[in-house]
Amino acid sequence: MHVSLLLTAGIFAPFAVFASPSNFDGSLHKRENLCHLKTPPVLCQPNSSVTVEETAQRAYQFYRAFVVDGDPRTMFSLIDSVYKQNTPGYASGPNTIWPLFCGGRKIGTEKNTAWCFDASTNMSYARYSTTDRWRWVDGCVHEHWDQGERIPSQEKCYKLPTNGTTV
Ligand SMILES: *[C@@H]1O[C@H](CO)[C@@H](O)[C@H](O)[C@H]1NC(C)=O
Ligand SMILES: *[C@@H]1O[C@H](CO)[C@@H](O)[C@H](O)[C@H]1NC(C)=O
Ligand SMILES: *[C@@H]1O[C@H](CO)[C@@H](O)[C@H](O)[C@H]1NC(C)=O
Repeated sequence: MHVSLLLTAGIFAPFAVFASPSNFDGSLHKRENLCHLKTPPVLCQPNSSVTVEETAQRAYQFYRAFVVDGDPRTMFSLIDSVYKQNTPGYASGPNTIWPLFCGGRKIGTEKNTAWCFDASTNMSYARYSTTDRWRWVDGCVHEHWDQGERIPSQEKCYKLPTNGTTV
């Protein structure tokens, strides 16, 4: 009796410890606080073969990482080493803005914000409390504006293929 109880505990206890696969969900990698790093862990490498559709997908990923998920690793993996600023008082370059985003702060939901990629100009937009505009070059975010920007009308915005079965 005692032996079997011990045996049972000995066999099953380890399973109890490890039987939480949801702890290993990839979403844990979002909202990382990376402020112990002085610079972004990875930047975008410009690639002239990246297609317009891939750029539109990346623009959506960038909006998600920046606004909805607060995911600095993904966000900066889409920014190139130039990141030209057109905001008075801000120097260019990803390292300048890294301290603003390294903490992984969410700033909105898909419902209360908006995004757009205009393939005719290679500009993407995110609207939250303000509206930002970015120019994409060779698959990377290359230049930024945030003074009096407006999201283009819906017909100018790239339509990504929808995922899943709902139409
Ligand atoms: C450049 O982009 C193309 C198209 O997405 C891809 O097939 C290729 O692997 C990329 N090259 C590098 C070096 O990442
Ligand atoms: C937009 O980028 C694509 C490559 O993704 C390029 O072929 C096209 O000329 C660019 N359009 C403008 C207006 O810069
Ligand atoms: C659709 O799924 C792909 C692959 O998982 C993802 O990269 C893309 O962002 C998704 N697009 C939308 C509109 O959800």
